[in-house]
Amino acid sequence: MTAEVRSHTYDGIQEFDNRLPNWWLWTFYGACIFSVFFWIHYHTIGTGDLPGEAYLVEQRKAAAALEAEMKKNPVTEERLLQLAENPTFVADGKALFVQHCSTCHRENGGAGKDQFGTPGAGANLTDDYWIYGGDPMAIYQTILEGRQFPDPEIGSNGGMQSWRHLGTGSVLRLAAFVLSIKGSNVSDGKAPEKYAKKQAK
Ligand code: HEC
Repeated sequence: MTAEVRSHTYDGIQEFDNRLPNWWLWTFYGACIFSVFFWIHYHTIGTGDLPGEAYLVEQRKAAAALEAEMKKNPVTEERLLQLAENPTFVADGKALFVQHCSTCHRENGGAGKDQFGTPGAGANLTDDYWIYGGDPMAIYQTILEGRQFPDPEIGSNGGMQSWRHLGTGSVLRLAAFVLSIKGSNVSDGKAPEKYAKKQAK
C-alpha cells in the first residue's frame, strides 16, 4: 500500500490518505444494513419493544408475579414475627430504617432529642405506647399504608406517609426491624404521644 500524503496542512500537521481496512469497512456496511432492519422492526411496523417499553413489560411481569406470590403467601402476624426473628432480614430493615426513617424516629427508633435538643418528629417506636397499634399487623399496615394523625387541631398535616413505594419487600424488612426494637425502651426515647395508648404485649 503506498501511503500518499494529502496536500493540505493544518498547523504543520499532514495526513496520509490510507485506504480504510476491510474489516472496518465491513463493520460500517454491516451497521448500515442492520439499521434498516432495526428501523423497520422497531419504528415502522413496531414488532419490537424499545428498551423503555421492554423495561416496563418486565416491571409489569415482576409486579404481577409479586402480587401472585403475596396472594399465595399473605402477610400474617406469624409471618411477620418469623421475619423479625431472622437476623439478615432485621439487619436489612435496620439499614432501610437508618436511610428512610431516622430523621423523624432516630436511628434507635426512640425519636429522642438530637444534639440541638430537638425531639424527633415521629413517635417513639421502642416504648409500650402506640397510636395506631403495636401488634405486628398494625405496624406493617402503618408503614405500608401510612396513617392520618387523629388530632383535629393538626388535621391532615399530621400522621405518617405511606412507604409502599419502597416495595413490599422493603416494607416487610422495615416492619421486622420495628418489631425487633419494640419494647426495648431506649433510654433517650421521646415521651408517649398524646393519642398513644399503652399496649400490654
Ligand atoms: C417525616 C417524618 C417521618 C418519617 C421520615 C417517618 N416517620 Fe414514622 N411517624 C412519623 C409521625 C409524625 C408518626 C405519627 C406520630 C404522630 O402521629 O404523632 C409516625 C408513626 C410511625 C409509626 C406508628 C407509631 C405508633 O405509635 O403507632 C410507625 C410504626 C412508624 N412511624 C414507622 C416508620 C418507618 C418504618 C419509617 C421509615 C420507613 C418512618 N416511620 C418514617 C413521622 C415520620
